[in-house]
Amino acid sequence: MKKIKNILLIITGGIAAYKSLELIRRLKDQNINVTCILTKSGSEFVTPLSVASLSGNHVYSDLFNLTDESKMGHIQLSRETDLILVAPATTNIISKMAYGSCDDLASTVLMATDKQVIVVPAMNVRMWHNPATQRNIQMLIKDGVSFIGPDKGDMACGEYGLGRMSETQEIVESILELNLSLLDQPLKNLSALVTAGPTKEQIDPVRFISNESSGKQGYAIAQSLFNMGAQTTLITGPTNIPLPDGPTIVKVNTAEEMLTITEKLLPVDIAVCAAAVSDYKVNKTKITKIKKTGEGISLDLSENPDILKRISKRNSNRPSLVVGFAAETENLKKNAETKLLAKGCDWILANDVSNGKIFGEDNNEITFISKDRLETWDKMSKDSVAMKLSNNISDYFSA
Ligand code: CTP
Repeated sequence: MKKIKNILLIITGGIAAYKSLELIRRLKDQNINVTCILTKSGSEFVTPLSVASLSGNHVYSDLFNLTDESKMGHIQLSRETDLILVAPATTNIISKMAYGSCDDLASTVLMATDKQVIVVPAMNVRMWHNPATQRNIQMLIKDGVSFIGPDKGDMACGEYGLGRMSETQEIVESILELNLSLLDQPLKNLSALVTAGPTKEQIDPVRFISNESSGKQGYAIAQSLFNMGAQTTLITGPTNIPLPDGPTIVKVNTAEEMLTITEKLLPVDIAVCAAAVSDYKVNKTKITKIKKTGEGISLDLSENPDILKRISKRNSNRPSLVVGFAAETENLKKNAETKLLAKGCDWILANDVSNGKIFGEDNNEITFISKDRLETWDKMSKDSVAMKLSNNISDYFSA
C-alpha cells in the first residue's frame, strides 16, 4: 500500500492552533513532509516563524502574495500533496468549505484541490452544536470530506463539552491508517455486507426490547469499506445517527429481518457483523397495548437466530472473511476467544462494555482476536477503528 508522503496542513485561527505545532513534529516523525498554510487569523495564535522552523518549509498565507505565487501557485499547492489536513478547523473555514467560498489562500486551495481532505474541528461547544455547523458538516461529509473529532472535554473558554481538537496522537494514527488506501481503492473488486445498530423486538404496539447500540461503529466500518472501493451494503437496525454516504442501505427492525436480508445478500466476500442483535424475541407480539392489571406479567421469550454464527457456519456461499464483535463485561479475552470458536467466524473485535462503556461513545478500545493473532489496539475513534479494520481486511485479501 502506498504511504502518505506529503501533507498540506492548513492552520486556521483557533486557540487549538498551538496543537498544530506538535502535530507538524509528529507527522515529520513519520517521515511525512509537511507544508503549511497559515490563515490570517491562524497567525494571531501561532507565528509563521514557528511553523516554518518546525515544518522546515516555506509557510504560505496570502493568495495575492507574488513571492508565494512564484514559489508555488495555489493550484499547484493544492495538487502537489497527497492529502490536505485542516487542523484546527474553525466554524468559519467549515462554513466556507461547505459553501465553496474562496476569499483567502486556504479556502481557495481547498476549492482547487482534487485530493482527500481531512478536517479536524476545534471550537466552542455551542458553536459545534449550532444547527448551522452541523448542517455544514453533513454537506461536507456528502462531498467526501473526512472528519477527525472533535473530542469532549474542558475548553479554553471555560465550558465543557464536544469541540476540543482531537489529540495529536489520534490525528497521526488516523492518517497512518488512512494512508493512501482511499485513493488506491484496494477493495475495489470485493463486495461487503455490514450489520449495525440495535434490533428492536416488539412486545406490543408501543413497547419493545432493544439495547443502547448507537450504530456508530458499524456505520464507520461500512463507510470505510465503501471508501476503499468495496461494493458495500449496510443492514441497519433503528438508529438516530446520519447514514453513511455511498453504501447501499437496508433498514430493518427485528433480528429475523436482519438475518433474512443478510442471507439474501450472499454471496459476498466480506461480512462484518457489528449489530447488537437482541438475543431474545417475544413469542407472540400483542396487537393491542398490554393493560395494567395491578399484577406483574411475564413475557414469553425465545432466542433469536445468531446471524454471525449462521453465516460463519454455512456450507455454501460462506463469505471469505467473516468478522464479528464481542461485547463483554468480564473476562474479555477468554470470552471473546470462546465466541470466535463457538460462532466460527475468522476475526473477533472484542470490547469491554462494562458500566455502559463504548455504547454511543465516539471512541473504542479493541482487542483483535483471530485463530493465530491477538492484538490490543490503542483507544481510538470509531472512525480510526474502522480504517484500521479495513486496512487489515485489505492486507488479508492482498496476501
Ligand atoms: N450476533 C449476531 N446475532 C445474534 C447475536 C449476536 O449476529 N443473535 C453477533 C453480533 O453482531 C456480534 C457477535 O455476534 O458480532 C457477538 O455479539 P455479542 O452480543 O457480544 O454476543 P452474543 O452472541 O449475543 O452472546 P452473549 O450475549 O452471551 O455474550
